This record gives sequence, C-alpha cells and structure tokens, in this order.
Amino acid sequence: MNQLDIVIDAITSRRSVRGFLPKPVSVGLINKILATASYAPSGSNIQPWKVHVVTGGKRDELSRQLREAHVRNLPEEREYDYYPVNWRSPYIERRRETGWGLYETLGIKKGDRKASAQQHERNYAFFGAPVVLIFSIDNDLQQGSWLDYGMFLQNIMVAARACGLHTCPQAALANYPGITKNLLGISEDQTVICGISMGYEDSNCLANRYRPARITLDEFVTFHS
Ligand SMILES: Cc1cc2nc3c(=O)[nH]c(=O)nc-3n(C[C@H](O)[C@H](O)[C@H](O)COP(=O)(O)O)c2cc1C
Repeated sequence: MNQLDIVIDAITSRRSVRGFLPKPVSVGLINKILATASYAPSGSNIQPWKVHVVTGGKRDELSRQLREAHVRNLPEEREYDYYPVNWRSPYIERRRETGWGLYETLGIKKGDRKASAQQHERNYAFFGAPVVLIFSIDNDLQQGSWLDYGMFLQNIMVAARACGLHTCPQAALANYPGITKNLLGISEDQTVICGISMGYEDSNCLANRYRPARITLDEFVTFHS
C-alpha cells in the first residue's frame, strides 16, 4: 500500500466495534495512539482535551457502577444534549435504520425490549474492551473547543486502526457523570463528553458484522463555482 492508501484504509476500516477480545493493550501502544492523536488541530492550539485512561481493576469497577446505575434505572444526568430534543426527518429515519440494522444482525426482533435493553447494557461492559478512554473538557470552554475535541477523538480512532486496534465511541459513557467523576477523581469544573472503548476486535462477535451505510455525496455536497 502506498502512503495515501494507508491513510484512507485507516479511516475507512474504522467502525464501531461492539465485541472485543480480553487481550490487554500495552501502555506503550495506548501512549503512542494518544500522542499521535494530539497532533489534531485546535483553534489557537489550545488543545482542550483531557483523557482518563481506565484499565484493570478501575475499569471493572467503573463498569460495575455504571451497569448498576443502568439496571436500577437511575435517572441519567448527562451534562449536555448530544441529540436533538425533537427528532425530525431525515435524522430520525437514519437513526432508526442504524438501530434496527444492528438489532437485525443480532437477531433481535422489533419490539423485543428485553433483548434490546441487554444489548444496550453492553455499553457499560465496554463491549468487553480492556481499555476505556473517558474524555472531559473544562466547563467554560465553548462550542469551538468541542469542534476541536471531535477531531482529536477521530484521530484516536484512526490511529488505533494503524496500530491494529479497534474502537467504539460511546456517548452512553457520559450518562452517569457523577459516578465517573467520583471514581476517576474528575473535578466538578469538567464536563464528561463521552468515552471510547478500545482493544482488539472479537471477529466472532455477531454485532461486529453490522456496517451502517452512508448517504451518498449528492445528498450532502453542493458544489459552487
Ligand atoms: C460521539 C459518538 C457517540 C456514540 N455513542 C455510542 C454509544 O453510546 N453506543 C454505541 O453502541 N455506539 C455509539 N456510537 C457509534 C455510532 O452508532 C456509530 O458511529 C454510527 O452508527 C456509524 O457506525 P460506524 O461507527 O460503525 O461507522 C457513537 C458514535 C459517536 C461518534
């Protein structure tokens, strides 16, 4: 592969993996990915990211507490709205297609709430990934910094591909920020944005066979000349 193809391959082979092997990831590799990701651009180079790397016993404890909150149906305390308050076309259709597509791959029938809830719960087991990255940002930073943050997150996921790893970005990991902050010692002047589960793909996991389609260029590009 030439250099351009390697970059394109890293981008297009990134997908949300929802089944990982328990195989550990070395600290050296985690650091390499984060150092690579830090080359992301940010307005005035302010680099608004704060990363909390969670592995081992802390990972298990975070999983336990988040799962418990979810199973006990505790109210979610998200610190920001990730999704629109009022879903509308065309986004609602895309959302449904993605959700149903995954459930269909898993053999979960429409309306099977128990099986859907179980799959949702897997978020809090980090889909079996040995490494969880939790991302926070200073409360007083603005939308521009969130834009910068997105580029940093994407860099992590693409760099992970270059290192043979896979990822799943998870807004679900910002559902109970109180638990996460308490366990990881994240101060109250921070907002928990999301998490990324990271590790080696379990290629036998059914969920990993699902690959949501993309809209075509004519649906989102307008050329002006
Ligand atoms: C910021 C962000 C948060 C997400 N949160 C979740 C999540 O909580 N749980 C999950 O299973 N997938 C989550 N996803 C994955 C999306 O469902 C996925 O990116 C989308 O369906 C496109 O599929 P692909 O990533 O495999 O290309 C999230 C993606 C992003 C970018």
